Amino acid sequence: MNEQSLVLPFDPAGIALDRRRGLSQQLYQALRGRILDGRLRSGTRLPATRDLAGMLALSRNSVVRAYDQLYAEGFIESRVGDGTYVTQLPKLSTHLPTGLSRGLSTELSTFSECGTEDIYSQVFSSGPLQRLESHHLSRPRTGAPRAFRLGVPAFDLFPFDVWAKLQAGFWRNPDPAQLGYGDPAGEPLLRELIAAYLRSSRGLSCAAEQIVITSGAQQAISLCAQLLLQPGDGVAVENPGYRAAGHAFALAGGRLHGVPVDEDGMDCQRLGQLTDCRLAYVTPAHQYPTGVTMSLARRLELLAWAERSGGWIIEDDYDGEYRYSGAPLAPLASLDRTGRVLYVGTFGKIAFPALRLGYLVLPPSLVQAFSQGRALAMRHSEVSSQCVMAEFMARGHFQRHIRRMRKAALSRRNVLKAGWPVDIPGLGSMPEVAAGLHVKVNVDNFVLEQELVAKAEGVGVEMTPLSNFWLANSAEPVDKRAGLVLGFAAVPEGEIAEALLKLRKAWRLLRG
Ligand SMILES: Cc1ncc(COP(=O)(O)O)c(C=O)c1O
Repeated sequence: MNEQSLVLPFDPAGIALDRRRGLSQQLYQALRGRILDGRLRSGTRLPATRDLAGMLALSRNSVVRAYDQLYAEGFIESRVGDGTYVTQLPKLSTHLPTGLSRGLSTELSTFSECGTEDIYSQVFSSGPLQRLESHHLSRPRTGAPRAFRLGVPAFDLFPFDVWAKLQAGFWRNPDPAQLGYGDPAGEPLLRELIAAYLRSSRGLSCAAEQIVITSGAQQAISLCAQLLLQPGDGVAVENPGYRAAGHAFALAGGRLHGVPVDEDGMDCQRLGQLTDCRLAYVTPAHQYPTGVTMSLARRLELLAWAERSGGWIIEDDYDGEYRYSGAPLAPLASLDRTGRVLYVGTFGKIAFPALRLGYLVLPPSLVQAFSQGRALAMRHSEVSSQCVMAEFMARGHFQRHIRRMRKAALSRRNVLKAGWPVDIPGLGSMPEVAAGLHVKVNVDNFVLEQELVAKAEGVGVEMTPLSNFWLANSAEPVDKRAGLVLGFAAVPEGEIAEALLKLRKAWRLLRG
C-alpha cells in the first residue's frame, strides 16, 4: 500500500505543555519535532483543531495557529474534505537535529519524563548541541544585588583594599615560573591551604593532592558529569533542587531522576528503588532550595547506597561555611570510607561569584583523570586569583572574613525575620534559619506564589518562586510546589528593611 493512502492514528500522549509559556508555539514545536524524528509518520492524520484542543485542554485558536505554522512550513497538508495530514516527507535520519524537546517540556527533566523509547532517542540519538537546544536554561540574575537576591553573599563587606594590595603585590614582581603553563589541578600552595582549612575548620581529612581547583562549583559539577557519566546513565538529583547541576548532568547524557526531599534530606529509600543511577547529587549541609540539613541517618544510608551500587555521590557544599549555631557540620565526605564521595566547594559564597574560584576534593583514584579533564578543557585556572587567594588565606584574612560574613548574614536574616509580613492569608511565616544564605517560605498555592512574586518584582524586590526549582515531571501537585525562596545576605540591613516596607505595601491587597 502506498504511504500516501495510509491513515495512521494520532497519539497525543507525551505532549506536555508548560502553561506559563506560549502554547501555540509549544504545540507547533511538539508536532514539528515529532514529524522530524519520525514519531508522526507521513500520512498520519492529525485530529481536527477542535478535537486536539479538547485533548490538550487548549483554546482552539492555539491549535489553529500551530497548524497554520506547520502548513506554512510544509510539515502538514490538508486534503480537501478529508482533514489534515502529515506531508509525505523523504525518509528522515534519526540523527536529524530537531532542535526541539521531544517531550516539549522546557526542562531537562524531559529525560525521565518521557516514555522509555523517548529516553533512548533523547539520549542516544541526540548530541550535546541538541540536548542543549532543547532545554531552557535560566541564567542567574545580573546587575548589582538587591534584596532578596539568591546565591550571593555580602559584597559590601569584602576587604577589597586587602585584595587589591595582594593583587598588586603579585603582579609587581611575578615569578617567571608562574607565568607559563601551571599544574592543571591548580596552584600547589592554594591546594595546600584549602586542604589545611578543610581539615581544621570543616573536619574533612584530606591531602592537597586530592584537591583540584575549578572555575567555581559549577565547573566542578560539570567535570563530574563529563567524567563520571556515560550517555543514558541515571542521575539522582534532589527535587526540588539546584537546576544548573541537573542541566550539567543532562548535557552529558544523564537521565535525571528527581528524588523527593523531606526534613531529613534526599529520600534514600526512593533512591534505592532506582536501579540505573550511577550518580547522586546532593546539598547535604543546606539543601538548595528548601534549606533542610541532611540527617546523619540519611547520610549513612546515602553512603551505603553508593557502596552497594558502586555509585558516586557529589556533595555540593556551596554555602557550608554559614552555620549560625555551633560549628559548620562535617561534610558527608568526612564519613566516606570507600572513596565514593566527590566534595565540591566554592569561594563564590564567601568572596564573590565573579571570582570563579572553586574546588573539588576527590577520592585519590580520580585525581589524575580529573586533572587531565581540566587540562583538556582549559589547561588551568588563571594564576593571579589563585595565588592571591592563597595569600589571603595564608595571612588569616580568609578565616577573619568568614567570621565577619557569618555575623553579617545572621544579622541580615534577623532583620528579614523581624519585618516579615504575617497577615497575608496563605503566606507562611519566616522560619528559623540555621544555615546558609537563603530561606524558603511556604505559600499555600501556585497562584498565590505567582501573585506574590509578580507584585514584589513590580516594586523592585527580587523574589524567586519555589516552583522554579522542581523538575517538570514532578509527581507533586502544583500547589505543593509553591513557595518563596529569599536570599537574605546580599544587601545591608537598611536595604532589607526598605524592601520589606515596599513588600508590605505591594502585598496589602492580598491581606485577609
Ligand atoms: C547549590 C549551588 N551549587 C553551586 C552553585 C554555583 O556556585 P559557583 O558560583 O561557585 O559556580 C550555586 C550557585 O548559586 C548553588 O546554588
